[in-house]
Amino acid sequence: MAYLSTDKVEHHHHDVVIIGAGGAGMRCALQLAEAGYRVAVVSKVLPTRSHTVAAQGGMNAALGNLDSDHWHWHMYDTVKGSDYLGDQDAIEYMCRAAPQLVKELEHQGVPFSRNDDGKIYQRAFGGQSREFGEGGQAKRTCAAADRTGHAILHTMYQQNIKAGTHFYEEFFALNLIMEDGGCHGVMAWDIGKGEYHLFQAKAVILATGGAGRIFKTTTNAHICTGDGGALCLDAGLPIEDMEFFQFHPTGIAHVGPLISEAVRGEGGYLLNSEGERFMERYAPTAKDLASRDVVSRAIALEIRAGKGCGTNKDYALLKLDHLGEETILKKLPNIHELALRFAGVDCTKEPIPVQPTAHYTMGGIPTNRHTEVVINHEGSDGEEKVPGLFAIGEAACTSVHGANRLGGNSLLEIVVFGRACGLKVMKWLSEHRYHKTIDPDAWHAGVNRVERWLAKDNKGGEKVGDVRANMQDIMQSHFSVYRTEDVMQEGVTAIESLKEAIHQASIDDKHRIFNTELVEALELENLMSLARATAACAANRKESRGAHARDDYPERDDKQWMKHSLATVQGDTVEVSYKPVRSTPMTVESFPPKKRVY
Ligand code: FUM
Repeated sequence: MAYLSTDKVEHHHHDVVIIGAGGAGMRCALQLAEAGYRVAVVSKVLPTRSHTVAAQGGMNAALGNLDSDHWHWHMYDTVKGSDYLGDQDAIEYMCRAAPQLVKELEHQGVPFSRNDDGKIYQRAFGGQSREFGEGGQAKRTCAAADRTGHAILHTMYQQNIKAGTHFYEEFFALNLIMEDGGCHGVMAWDIGKGEYHLFQAKAVILATGGAGRIFKTTTNAHICTGDGGALCLDAGLPIEDMEFFQFHPTGIAHVGPLISEAVRGEGGYLLNSEGERFMERYAPTAKDLASRDVVSRAIALEIRAGKGCGTNKDYALLKLDHLGEETILKKLPNIHELALRFAGVDCTKEPIPVQPTAHYTMGGIPTNRHTEVVINHEGSDGEEKVPGLFAIGEAACTSVHGANRLGGNSLLEIVVFGRACGLKVMKWLSEHRYHKTIDPDAWHAGVNRVERWLAKDNKGGEKVGDVRANMQDIMQSHFSVYRTEDVMQEGVTAIESLKEAIHQASIDDKHRIFNTELVEALELENLMSLARATAACAANRKESRGAHARDDYPERDDKQWMKHSLATVQGDTVEVSYKPVRSTPMTVESFPPKKRVY
């Protein structure tokens, strides 16, 4: 190792290291820290800047605070919403646990909005029904105005401070310490001080969030670069179902920030350039509250039919002024501000221009419902686990969302599986009480990742920002709401040739302290890994299901394609294989696939 010696690497020993300080990582940390374990949370940003802070509309739980509701109806909606690709054991677990965990959040201090009777306020969201689709629209999404993620994240942070969780803020995870097939820690770079840290742990939990930044227009923050999935791919582990990328129907046109589904839940609706409420044609019953894949496709088809709005006829309008200024400012204050800032629109007076926008990574690191990372392949028997490695939240593919996530199930997932992970890890720790003696050179790979950029000659080659913009353009134009064989194959070729540009690319700033250009270079490596996996899985799947809509294969094909994709990087190529869907729930009967109608 030419760059530095081991005495320049600071060593830490914790029972557990959690990478990522969003809602999932913090809920898990809280479980473990309160139980007395020595927990480290390693986050590349200050914890309260994690992307959970941007979640708006709310969190689903069948509390039935306005109309009767039941976790089993919630489960039915989630399985249907997933286009039957969701694993039904995990979905049952999540929907059953939801009411208890919302109440727990309430007691931890989350300032939920209230009904007049003092109960938690719940609004309607897309794809929600009562009585297994027969009882009309449910109101299941528990909300703190339209800043629910913000409320949950701050509460979790405060609770963790009280519980004594150790936060390593602005530390970038470089690689997993893998030995004998298990995970024993992580190597990280202290962005502020420009120093290396080796975290050894008995359990490592990946809670790094989604990868929306592989696309050009996204609701995701700049930090959503799929870091956990990339760490797994680097370690030779698979990632699952990456072709299923959710496009939220209502990102602000051309710029991306999220306009919550809560707007439609409160009574807002979409219009085309002819002033028509077009969702009545696509989803006669649920209308604007059909599931997200259905609404995004409808907007795309309206635009394709020349009924888009604006000079380029490329967006729809979201009308909500009829709700009245008082309701908007009380229930949707954040939306009001976002529309003003990013679209220059006062939504108490005029509609907001919106477009389907990359929003949520349904795929991710494969886990079972206990959050253990699993690496089963087609034909493999039972579950092959990666000892000591766990994944939660958007980084994971548990898979409760299958091919299409219902709005409001993301905040739920992070809390339910954050807790489930805490419980599983406690059991693991009771059986694995000592740190492993790891290879004394284990830090080399991580250090090399940074030093390569700092040592590189910056003459010739593209800049990191240019390569990233190119990648985002390719993903946006080749793997958007509607997909076809030719366009996707062209996208695969373009992404594969672009990966060479990373090897040639360089950075201008060679300093070690707060080198944000370096951080962006490391993030680009991660993004590129996930973009390659997404492109390969999408081009392979020859059917339409959930968020993967193909013009050339317009139907869902349960006979051939009721299976999860797994992508791994073998040498220089992305290999795609498959594994079965877990369609057997824990205690109730399975919901068999049927045609999805809203
Ligand atoms: O529309 C929204 O408020 C987003 C919620 C979600 O993605 O779950």
